[in-house]
Amino acid sequence: MESTLFNVENKVVAITGGCGILGIAMAKALAKNGVKVALLDRNTAGADELKDEAHQNGWTVNAYRTDVLDEDTIRDTRNQVLADFGTVDVLINAAGGNMPGATVGPDQSVLDLSSGDIRKVLELNYLGTVIPTQVFLEHMIEKKAGNIINISSMSAQRPLTRVMGYSSSKAAIDNYTRWMAVELATKFGEGLRVNAMAPGFFLTRQNETLLTNGDGSLTARGKTIIEHTPFRRFGTPEELVGTLIWLISDASRFVTGAVVPIDGGFNAFSGV
Ligand SMILES: NC(=O)c1ccc[n+]([C@@H]2O[C@H](COP(=O)([O-])OP(=O)(O)OC[C@H]3O[C@@H](n4cnc5c(N)ncnc54)[C@H](O)[C@@H]3O)[C@@H](O)[C@H]2O)c1
Repeated sequence: MESTLFNVENKVVAITGGCGILGIAMAKALAKNGVKVALLDRNTAGADELKDEAHQNGWTVNAYRTDVLDEDTIRDTRNQVLADFGTVDVLINAAGGNMPGATVGPDQSVLDLSSGDIRKVLELNYLGTVIPTQVFLEHMIEKKAGNIINISSMSAQRPLTRVMGYSSSKAAIDNYTRWMAVELATKFGEGLRVNAMAPGFFLTRQNETLLTNGDGSLTARGKTIIEHTPFRRFGTPEELVGTLIWLISDASRFVTGAVVPIDGGFNAFSGV
């Protein structure tokens, strides 16, 4: 195997939602592998520890306060990242989330869903990916090179119960990933690739109250998920890293429009 196949050293990677749980785990692993990381988040507090660690180890990690839903703001941030690093090779769209009113509660029905909250969830997960992609593509198309990684979910292909707004928005991400892969390759060539990672179940603050009780034991939903995961456990954020390095390195240079499950077999399992 060529030793350079998975090399990501000196690439500049911008991560939206980069100060969240999965963003920080990906950023740390990339920084350790010589990547220059720009964390783009509306709340950068989550980056403090990693920035200290980066300082001690000679890694390059900058955090920028921004809002993926505000095009002018994200364009200013992109300009700042370009001023600091000179280029951007990879954009990871990891800003995302859910809202209570877009989820059917245990004692609720579909009629209790709030269109206002559904709109917010669609905006954050879908437009929160589309807007930064447009803005970073201005730079990537100019240099005919760029790599975009979207973050999908297990709820995209086969919707999970209760999380209606979130499932719809992540289904849109899968469709957008394929659409954009074709658009970019056919108009600008194979230097521009778009893929998505579809994480299975990783315990983070977004889902911890759905999956665990206050005492750490599993909720009924948490138990069902583990029973439907052939590996019989939740993932750890670090388990996204191998796929990420594959997708941003030359090892995947013929891959575009793919949505890769990282899920301990959940997506493949029918339950019997
Ligand atoms: N945790 C899981 O098990 C899991 C599974 C599948 C998919 N995902 C997806 O992975 C991504 C990251 O999830 P996470 O678990 O790290 O969540 P998280 O809540 O820890 O991180 C999300 C980050 O996005 C930021 N953000 C939210 N709105 C923003 C905005 N308007 N502008 C800029 N930043 C904004 C938040 O401040 C936060 O730091 C999300 O898209 C999520 O849907 C997570």
